[in-house]
Amino acid sequence: MSLRALPPSERAFATLVVLVLTLTLGMGLGLVFTRELKPAGPNQTPAARSRLTAVLEGVMAGNVTPAEVQRFKAWVAAGATQAEFAQVEAVVANNCASCHAQGGQFPRIASFEDLRPLAVEAGPAGLLGLVDAGTLHLLAFPLVFLVAAGGYLRRTTLPRRGLLMGTCALAVLFDAGQWWVRQGRPGMGVLWATWLASLALLATLVVLVAVVLAELWGPRSGQGPVRNNLG
Ligand code: HEC
Repeated sequence: MSLRALPPSERAFATLVVLVLTLTLGMGLGLVFTRELKPAGPNQTPAARSRLTAVLEGVMAGNVTPAEVQRFKAWVAAGATQAEFAQVEAVVANNCASCHAQGGQFPRIASFEDLRPLAVEAGPAGLLGLVDAGTLHLLAFPLVFLVAAGGYLRRTTLPRRGLLMGTCALAVLFDAGQWWVRQGRPGMGVLWATWLASLALLATLVVLVAVVLAELWGPRSGQGPVRNNLG
């Protein structure tokens, strides 16, 4: 079946779905750019309300005393430097590393190199702050492509649709994979993989959207004369 053969109301609905999916992926990639691709240079100052502070007052509050939270906060406020890491080193070793050591709970928190990115990174803010990175890479992105490719591409008569659907699946798998590998190693030097994954997702979606829109609203191909012109 060609999508072009659908009644206009259904094609308008399909277009709306495509636009919503594009917007969803766009916002998701926006989050990836601001949270994961921002360069965390050695001189970057910690965020006003860092992810570390947010976590210590939130989900991890049970693992620290208020006095220890103050120590972490003081360290963050003073620039989260290596020179002053000694202030919190013992707390990290006693209160965090037991669960967050190599091979344990993500993210890995055992050394200065592990802790500093959490101090530099801004904590969750607003409604979008509720969307964590795992949800984004493992759920939201795959869902966008599942609906876009599975829901609409499958119904088209495009000769190369198998190739396009395969490319979508690869882009999603690569993105989820690179996120998984990066877990527990915040700020590690595999950022090129994140760049590549984001660009792959974006490029695949642009092609996908172009193909589906052309199928929906473009000139009819194949069967006989173009009816529009004949009235
Ligand atoms: C008893 C085990 C345990 C200890 C001790 C512990 N954590 Fe966690 N931590 C977890 C688990 C389990 C999760 C994942 C659950 C979650 O995110 O709610 C987690 C998640 C986190 C996260 C990611 C959550 C996010 O939203 O960013 C950070 C950061 C973190 N812990 C920091 C710390 C720090 C810093 C300490 C030391 C003060 C610490 N944790 C001590 C078990 C522990």
